[in-house]
Amino acid sequence: MNALDLHSLSVGWPGHAPVLKGLSFALPRGAHVGLVGPNGAGKTTLFHTIAGVLPAQQGAVQVMGRAVVPGQFRSETALVFQQAEDQLFCPTLIEDVSFGPRNLGLAEAEITARARDALDVCGLTGLEDRPVHHLSGGEKRRACIAGALVMQPNLLLLDEPSAALDMRQRRRLIALLAGMDQAMLIASHDLELVLELCPRVIVIDQGRICADGPAPEVLGNARLMEAHGQEVPHSLTPHHGAGHRHRHG
Ligand SMILES: Nc1ncnc2c1ncn2[C@@H]1O[C@H](COP(=O)(O)OP(=O)(O)O)[C@@H](O)[C@H]1O
Ligand SMILES: [Mg+2]
Repeated sequence: MNALDLHSLSVGWPGHAPVLKGLSFALPRGAHVGLVGPNGAGKTTLFHTIAGVLPAQQGAVQVMGRAVVPGQFRSETALVFQQAEDQLFCPTLIEDVSFGPRNLGLAEAEITARARDALDVCGLTGLEDRPVHHLSGGEKRRACIAGALVMQPNLLLLDEPSAALDMRQRRRLIALLAGMDQAMLIASHDLELVLELCPRVIVIDQGRICADGPAPEVLGNARLMEAHGQEVPHSLTPHHGAGHRHRHG
């Protein structure tokens, strides 16, 4: 069973022309896949559809083999918003991370155990009682991921996870995501991050899939990248130089 199946999916915002036009692809369980494309390509719209917020106009979406029904909550799917401020809303970190499991109606001991575990995985232990608006940018991002992990999802949708992070926090985020075994779709303009985390990359532009294949092949294709407003990441550019080593390339 795949974590995600899209069959000829078309989606539009109410009163507007379709934004996504006949997308088909599947994500096997545990697969980490990068979703790359210019602003307005439809990445966030796709995430809203997979999360059941926005209905499909045509085609079908299945998560873990079951059709997504708009408006119906599925704990298998966790969407991590681009803006942490849109996601965090409880007074303290522990309350925020406990919110989802509490909504599931779990016992208090289970809620606490899950929340502490998610905070631990995300390196946030000790900050339980911190007001969420007093967390740093990197901590906020990891708080959002903790709020997703606490639901024990099979599919994580990460929208621009490294946006506005400094280098150290970005590195920490990459290490965190690399160690996770859930299936993941990562929408990002940070192509070096995509290259590190995702063996496979899908390029979308104007609501259509333009490429779907191995990350070094897709991201290293200069003509393809330029045609869709991207640039071949530095570590895939042929170059020489002392003290110039990459993990890839
Ligand atoms: N709430 C909305 N209402 C109407 N149109 C929207 C809304 N959100 C996004 N769109 C439109 O959908 C298209 C795709 O946007 P989006 O999914 O945000 O792209 P991306 O995340 O790839 O930058 C754009 O044309 C955008 O203007
Ligand atoms: Mg977006």
